[in-house]
Amino acid sequence: MINKSLRELAQAKNFYLGAAVLPNLLKKDSKYTETLSSEFNMIGTENCMKWRAIHPDINKYTFDESDGLIDFALKNDMAVRGHTLIYSRKMPEWFNNIKDKKLMEEQLEEHIKTVVGRYRGKIYAWDVINEEIDFEGNHQQSPLFKMLGISHIENAFLWAHKADPDVKLFINEFGIEEINKRSDLTYKMIQDLLQKKVPVHGIGFQMHRALGSDDKWLNKLPDLESMRKNFQRFADLGLEVHITEMDIPIQKAIGSYEEKLIEQGKAYKEILEVALSVKNFKALVVWGVTDLYNWIDFISQTKDAPLLFDREYKKKPAYFAVKKALEE
Ligand code: XIL
Repeated sequence: MINKSLRELAQAKNFYLGAAVLPNLLKKDSKYTETLSSEFNMIGTENCMKWRAIHPDINKYTFDESDGLIDFALKNDMAVRGHTLIYSRKMPEWFNNIKDKKLMEEQLEEHIKTVVGRYRGKIYAWDVINEEIDFEGNHQQSPLFKMLGISHIENAFLWAHKADPDVKLFINEFGIEEINKRSDLTYKMIQDLLQKKVPVHGIGFQMHRALGSDDKWLNKLPDLESMRKNFQRFADLGLEVHITEMDIPIQKAIGSYEEKLIEQGKAYKEILEVALSVKNFKALVVWGVTDLYNWIDFISQTKDAPLLFDREYKKKPAYFAVKKALEE
């Protein structure tokens, strides 16, 4: 049998398998570029489209990195998940310092129209709202939320839809993989938006879940039955379902490195199988190409191995687990 890449297997299923990308790595690491374009058919824009990167000052946009990345995607026939239009906790200081309600709203509209408009027709899906809900299950009390309240969410979708009527618009959130108070609030929020005919097209489950751990930052693996029910209820709203930022850190697990990798592979496979059982599930994005560059190292200050390729670009058990799930 011919040995197919993940990309080919995904394609055959009409499915998107993506990785989050840092554009500077495309310039400096040819193995990175080669692995990305041969194994994946989607790109997640890890940082270069966030406000602080793309709109660092009130009258200043920096499009170089994102333009380059979109070109790369088009040349390599890859879809793009744009991340993210509103990330209320991570807005630039200049934005947070706006004291006038009308001015803040105008800036928001201008940003969304500019960024979405620039890439009109070139992006498959936008995360319009990212991490809206805090650990306790309330809206993030960001300067943005305090100033504009819930209405900015509705407006953001309407502005984005106007700027690119074909792009799919998502709400993206962490820790809502199962039924819990945070996923309940997200569900209710989307239900309300849909009732008002606001164009929400998809739900993004980040899926930063870890082996052998249970704290805020390294959240334990999801309960699969609860996850299935939860994915299904969002799908039943007519939404497209994506896993948008998957990684499975192993640093808190017990056992040898090899044993942890096997356990990790099993978790990737089980989660993907459950997701694939939901009809509207159309994309899985892993939050990086290789363990060599992964954001868990950075947040935990510990070398981890959360992704599908190891630090030498060797395929890990997690790679073969995803492969298996895509072949089934
Ligand atoms: C992370 C990036 O991976 C890091 O490089 C950056 O320093 C911080 O942000 N949830 C999200 C992503 O929605 O935007 C975050 O990305 C990871 C958690």
